[in-house]
Amino acid sequence: MTNLKSSLKLIYNRPLSTEADEPTVEHNLWLNRPEQGHGLHYAVQYHGTLKPELTNYYLNKYSEKGSIVLDPFCGSGVVPLQASLLGRIAWASDINQLAVRITQAKLKPAGLDEVVLFLTQLNLQRPISLSGFQEFFAPFYHPDTYRELVNLKNAINRYQAEGVQNRICNFVELLVFSRLHGHAPSHFSTYSSPQVALSPSKQLLLNKKRRQTPEYKAISPRLIQRTAQLLKDGISSEFLTYTKAAMVKRADAQNLTWVNSNSVDLVLTSLPLPDNFDYISNYWLENWFSGFSDKFINISLPDWVRLIRNLLSEMLRVLKPSAYAVLELSVELSGKHNVKTLEELVIQEAKALSINKKRFCLKEVVAHKPISATKYEEQKNNQQKLIIFQVS
Ligand SMILES: C[S@@+](CC[C@H](N)C(=O)[O-])C[C@H]1O[C@@H](n2cnc3c(N)ncnc32)[C@H](O)[C@@H]1O
Repeated sequence: MTNLKSSLKLIYNRPLSTEADEPTVEHNLWLNRPEQGHGLHYAVQYHGTLKPELTNYYLNKYSEKGSIVLDPFCGSGVVPLQASLLGRIAWASDINQLAVRITQAKLKPAGLDEVVLFLTQLNLQRPISLSGFQEFFAPFYHPDTYRELVNLKNAINRYQAEGVQNRICNFVELLVFSRLHGHAPSHFSTYSSPQVALSPSKQLLLNKKRRQTPEYKAISPRLIQRTAQLLKDGISSEFLTYTKAAMVKRADAQNLTWVNSNSVDLVLTSLPLPDNFDYISNYWLENWFSGFSDKFINISLPDWVRLIRNLLSEMLRVLKPSAYAVLELSVELSGKHNVKTLEELVIQEAKALSINKKRFCLKEVVAHKPISATKYEEQKNNQQKLIIFQVS
C-alpha cells in the first residue's frame, strides 16, 4: 500500500510533458518566486533574466570558489552577481550600455550612508527647462517630480563624465532605474508598467482608462528606502573581495578580445534570440536618464546563426579544457521561432567547431516543462531549454 501510494504520488507530481525522455530541472529552479535570492537581484526588471536559483544551481554544479565564470550576454547581471556571491570571479559583457551599467552597479553597491550623503549634497529643486516635458514625460510624472529627476540626472551624468564618485553615481542610477515606472506608490511615475517603459501615448491611454493624473513623488526618500530594500541581505567582505577581481565590459559576444584564451572555467549565459525584444525602446526612460542613445538592431534568423557560430568559436577559444558551457534558450510560445529549431541550430554549430584540438561535447539538454498551475502563467508561455557542453 505504501509503495502504491508513493508511486501514485510520483506520477501525479510529474510535470505535464510531451517530451517524456528529456531530463527536467526541478520546477522551483525555473520559477519566478519573489525574493529567493539576494535583494540586489531584484533591483530592476530586465527582459530574459535568468532565475537566480537556476543560476546558483549551475554555478555550484560546474564551478568552484575562485573559478572564472563568463557571461557574454550579462543583461541585468544575474550570473555575475550570483557568481560573486558564491566566491567566483565574474567576467561579464553585453552589447547594451544599459545592461553594462546595471551589472556594474550591482557588483559595486554603495552603502546606505553613502547614498544619503550623496543625495543631501545635491540641489534637486533648481529650475529646469520644460522643453519635451509635455510630449514625453507629462503622462508619467508630476512637473515637480520631473524637475527633481532632471536635476539628479544632470548631476549624475556630469559626475560620470568627470569620473567623480563613479561607484556611488552608478548605484544611485540603478536605484533610479528601479523606480522610474511601476505600480507602487514607491515609484516616481503614476501607475504604470513595471516591466517595460510604456510609450508616452500608451501611458496617456492608461491614464485615461484609470482616470489618473501623476501626483508629486519626492525622489530622495524613495531612493533611500530602495537602498535599504536592495541591501537588506547585507554585503559580505568576501563578496567585495571577489567583485574587485570582476570585469564588466561593453562588448559584442562575437568578439571577446578582452578574454584570454584558455582562461575561463565556466560559461553560463542566456542567449539573445532572433527577431527579439527591443531593449532600447522598451527601456527608453532608463536610456534617457543615462543619456544613452543606442539604436536597436533586430537580427534575422541567418544573422542569429552567424552570431551563435562566432560566439561558440570565441567560447571554445577562451574556455579551459574540460570546462563547461551552460546556454539557456527561453522562447515565447507565441513567438516566431520554435525552441527545438534554435536548440538544434546551436548544437549543429557547436559540433562543427574545432580549435587547437578542442571541441564541444554535448552533455545534456535540459528542458523546462510547462506546468498547469495558472499562477505560473509566465512559465507556461515560454519554452525553456538549457544546452550543456563540455570542452574535450
Ligand atoms: C536574454 S538577455 C540576457 C539576460 C541576462 N541573462 C539577465 O539575467 O538579465 C540577452 C542579452 O544579450 C544582449 N545581446 C544581444 N546581442 C548581443 C551581442 N551580439 N553581443 C553581446 N550582447 C548581446 C542583449 O543586450 C541582452 O542584454
